[in-house]
This record gives sequence, structure tokens and C-alpha cells, in this order.
Amino acid sequence: MGDQESIHSLFQPTFGNRPVQYIGRDGVIEQFMEGLSEPVGSRNRCTLFLGQRGMGKTALLLELSDRASNAGYVVARVTAHEGMPKAIIEQFQLNGSQYFKDEKRKVSGMTAGVLGFSFGLTFSDAAERQYGFRSKMSLLCDKLAEKGKGALILIDEVRTSSAMREVAAAYQELVGDRKNIAIAMAGLPHAVSSVLNDSVLTFLNRATKVELGTISTHLIRAYYERSFKTIGIKVSDEILDRAALDTRGFPYLMQLIGYYVIQYTPTGDAVTEAIMEKVEKAAMGDMEDNVFKPILAPLSDNDKLFLKAMARIGGTVTTAKLQAALGENGPAIQPYRKRLIEAGVIEAPRRGELVFAVPYLSEYLLDELNN
Ligand SMILES: Nc1ncnc2c1ncn2[C@@H]1O[C@H](COP(=O)(O)OP(=O)(O)OP(=O)(O)O)[C@@H](O)[C@H]1O
Ligand SMILES: [Mg+2]
Repeated sequence: MGDQESIHSLFQPTFGNRPVQYIGRDGVIEQFMEGLSEPVGSRNRCTLFLGQRGMGKTALLLELSDRASNAGYVVARVTAHEGMPKAIIEQFQLNGSQYFKDEKRKVSGMTAGVLGFSFGLTFSDAAERQYGFRSKMSLLCDKLAEKGKGALILIDEVRTSSAMREVAAAYQELVGDRKNIAIAMAGLPHAVSSVLNDSVLTFLNRATKVELGTISTHLIRAYYERSFKTIGIKVSDEILDRAALDTRGFPYLMQLIGYYVIQYTPTGDAVTEAIMEKVEKAAMGDMEDNVFKPILAPLSDNDKLFLKAMARIGGTVTTAKLQAALGENGPAIQPYRKRLIEAGVIEAPRRGELVFAVPYLSEYLLDELNN
């Protein structure tokens, strides 16, 4: 490290990138990796990660992709758009081709294509034309198994769609055929909303569900300490505490705070309280645009009324207090409560109690009310 560019890429507060250093989530990663060593079809080989925007779903899938590749899997990483089945096939062909480099192209006129492939992981013309997703996957799994490799599908931004239905059905059939296949999906909390009723939903609900929470602020503090030292920024214990606690363990905010500290502190200088104030302000601006606004946008006016009442009461909110705040003629709590929990905006730590599930959303709503 040392040149200007690497200094500034140490923290990257953007979505969907691979972080320079992956922090925390050891338990989550281990559980999934253990699943990969379990027999085909075991429940941990089909996992669904749920988390709010910026909680690190895409980063986790990228990390799992690396780990699984090292553990003998060829990985296809896609988002759940309509072209997904085709994209999955292409990803396996692309990422698996390195294991078939020594296989010479078959001489034409021979029985090439009988087994479905013309060479390597390229399908014969006939297979390409005649076979659908499931048959192609079956051929690919067999071919990869010849090289001792399994197949791992990673699906980001999971939602119900006909493409998702096709992949889910194929996965179940491939498992039935004992193919060495596994799947990990990631999506927003409401991806499994009970409002939806669909075969995809059944599939998602049968998967091992893992809710992604915040990461340890101790780990974040240690990471900040190492990073700032590497690039020659001086930082006191108090400032380190402040920066780490500021993040509340939220991965996107960890990147934002780290990024702005480096931006606002000249190399060789110390981070001051005044710099931290600027950092916090800038970070909150990005949180507003990229987390708070997208979360609030799809909600109804009454949803927002509900959330603002919660923010005004503050802390852990009891249902009784909330009903009182909304007034007797206000909206009934139950349907909103249920929907907002499903949307991952609020949580019920205990029966009859509610808290915000997104860090600083309460503060943001209060600010909005006061301005
Ligand atoms: N465990 C982690 N360690 C370090 N950085 C992380 C970690 N998890 C996420 N990040 C970083 O936080 C930011 C947000 O993460 P990511 O893009 O994965 O969120 P997401 O949950 O996929 O959000 P969205 O729902 O908007 O797609 C990225 O800059 C990412 O690199
Ligand atoms: Mg993402």
C-alpha cells in the first residue's frame, strides 16, 4: 500500500463490490461451508440469506464464492432476473472451463455430441437446441463430477419470478438425481413475505434461512486501527471508539466512515473531533440517499405515520404506547406491525415490543419531523 489510489480504495462505500477485507460473519460462513460437506440434499446445502440494504448480502455471496471455489466447487453467481437460467449455465461453462483445458476438441464426424458436449463444457449443437435448463444442468453436474467438482449456484436479489420458479424446480430434481449441487440465495427480508403465495415461496421457506445482522464493532474497531495505521493516519483510542461505535455494526456504514476518515484526514495527520463530525455528517448523507430513502419509498403513508410515531416515542416501543400515540381513530397497529416486520424495517425483540431494525432510521425520521 502507499500510492494514492490504493489508499483511497481501502474503503469502498459502494454496493455490490468485493470489500478489500471481509470482516466478521465467521459463524454464518462456517455453517454454510459445513453444509457443503454434508450429503447432497441436506438442508444446509440450500440456504437463504436475508438482510436489509447495505447489510452485506452481496459481499457475503462473493465471500462464499471464494471459499466454495477453494473447497472444490465451481460457482455460478447470478441475480434473479428473467435470464437467470441461461446465465447460470454460462457461468458454469465459463468458470468450469479451466478444468477442461487439456481436453482436445473432438474431431467432427466422430460421435461427438452423444454425451451432450462437443468439447469441454460446450454443448453439442443438438444438446444446445434440444435441452432445457434442467437437462443442461444435469449434464454439467456429471461433467464437473468427473473432475471431482461440485456445482454451487449463488442467487442475489432473490424474488419470485418465473425464472426463479424454473431454477427452484430444477434444483429439486437435480438433488433427487443425487447430483452434487448446492444453492445459496440472498434477498431483502420481504423476499419471503407471507403475502406471496407461490411455489417459489415454498422453496424459499424450505431453505435454511439465515438473517444477516450487524457485525461486531470490536472487529470493526480493530480493522480501522490496522487500516489507518497502514496508511499513516494517526488516531487516538477515543476516536477509534467513536468511529467504530458510529457504524453500529452496519457494514455499509463501516465502509462509509472509513472512507470519509481517509478523505478528510491529510496523510500523516491525526483524526480530530472536528474531522469526525464532518465524517459523520457525510456518512449520514449517503445513508439517506442509499438506505433510508429506498427503504421508505415503497411504504404507504400510514406505514410512515406508524414509523414516525415509533421514532417520536424512542427506544423500545410498546404496542400500548404506540396505539396511544396513533390515537384512538388512528390506524390499527396489527397489519402495519406485521408488514413492517416482514419488510425488515422494524423488529419485535419481545412480545408487545418494537424497535427499528435499520440503524439511524429512527433519527432520520425524527429529523424529517422536525424540519
Ligand atoms: N462483512 C463485510 N466486511 C467488509 N465490508 C462489507 C461486509 N459486508 C458488506 N460490506 C460492504 O458494505 C457495503 C454494502 O454491502 P453489500 O453491497 O453487500 O450490501 P447488500 O446487502 O447486498 O445491499 P443491497 O440490498 O442494496 O444489494 C459494500 O461496500 C460492501 O463491500
Ligand atoms: Mg446487494
